[in-house]
Amino acid sequence: MIDEPAVFDIEGFVPSDVVHRDGPLDALSSSLDALLHHGTGRQTHIFGPSGAGKTCIARYVLDQLGDERPHIHGTYINCWNHYATSALLYQLAAGVDAVADVRPGAAAHDELLQRVREADDFGYVVVLDEVDQIESPDVLYQLYRMPHVHCIYIANDEQAFFSRLDGRMASRLRTGEIVTLDRYTREELLAILDRRAEAGLAFGATTEASLGRIAELAAGDARLAVETLYQAARKGQARGHASITEADIHDAEPVARSELRQKTLSQLTRHQRILFEALEAAGEPLQMGALESAYRARVSSPRSTKTLRRYLSKLAQYNLVAIEGETSGRTYEAQ
Ligand SMILES: Nc1ncnc2c1ncn2[C@@H]1O[C@H](COP(=O)(O)OP(=O)(O)O)[C@@H](O)[C@H]1O
Ligand SMILES: [Mg+2]
Repeated sequence: MIDEPAVFDIEGFVPSDVVHRDGPLDALSSSLDALLHHGTGRQTHIFGPSGAGKTCIARYVLDQLGDERPHIHGTYINCWNHYATSALLYQLAAGVDAVADVRPGAAAHDELLQRVREADDFGYVVVLDEVDQIESPDVLYQLYRMPHVHCIYIANDEQAFFSRLDGRMASRLRTGEIVTLDRYTREELLAILDRRAEAGLAFGATTEASLGRIAELAAGDARLAVETLYQAARKGQARGHASITEADIHDAEPVARSELRQKTLSQLTRHQRILFEALEAAGEPLQMGALESAYRARVSSPRSTKTLRRYLSKLAQYNLVAIEGETSGRTYEAQ
């Protein structure tokens, strides 16, 4: 039943047709005009919940740019994997092919920055996905000062992203185009699933009813929708079905949720993981004070309360933590 497993790779696969995101795609492409026509980079922001298509539209535009303007440099960096300043700088320099002679972690920060600064014959489009994960926003200031660099920043929450920057920098970065994506509607998810089934599954493997069921239970989240389709197809295949059944979907849903959860857990940084484990071990909702003590008992050089709050809202975006209540009585619970 599964002909092309690669099209179900949530992180790696970029669809050749992005559906129902024409407005955001136009906004994103035209935000690059100044770079393409005058060589002056600015910045674009993409905000929205998990599974809203943020990574998808950014990679799509980057791929298109690579085809149409091959001389323009472009790079996609997932800051969840490259959150440390040295790792991020290395990736930035790699994007302009300036690291042939250095090993990751071996070059000085200034040296790497200098290489990015000097690669200014043509424009450089940098996608910083999950940018709220970076250890220090200093790199953003450096990139802002490079006229040939255009950054596309991707994060879940607009407010949280800007509040981490100092006031002057926040107002400068705010001048960039802001693209906000909402959760998909059932019909939009249906269209995404339909294309994905066509690209990856045997003819007749799905019906409108089966895709509709998956779209409903994914509740606006394309990650969950695509993963559930894949897991349902695996169930159907193992059971010798020609077409995905209601029971295949029913049994696939928890598997899909757990797969996505595992993927997210595997991306957590050391401190995020320890924080999450402390909360999970408590087995009940905790207030910040209690959670922080539990976390501090597990580490020797703890992160600040502010940073922990930032981690918790990130974990909540990925459904690992539930946050209840208002500021004073707010509680956190592992999911
Ligand atoms: N408009 C779309 N058209 C086709 N596929 C999409 C679309 N939006 C999202 N997807 C697919 O759904 C999955 C999740 O999207 P993604 O861009 O990773 O979401 P986000 O980055 O907002 O969490 C990916 O497999 C992606 O290819
Ligand atoms: Mg993403």
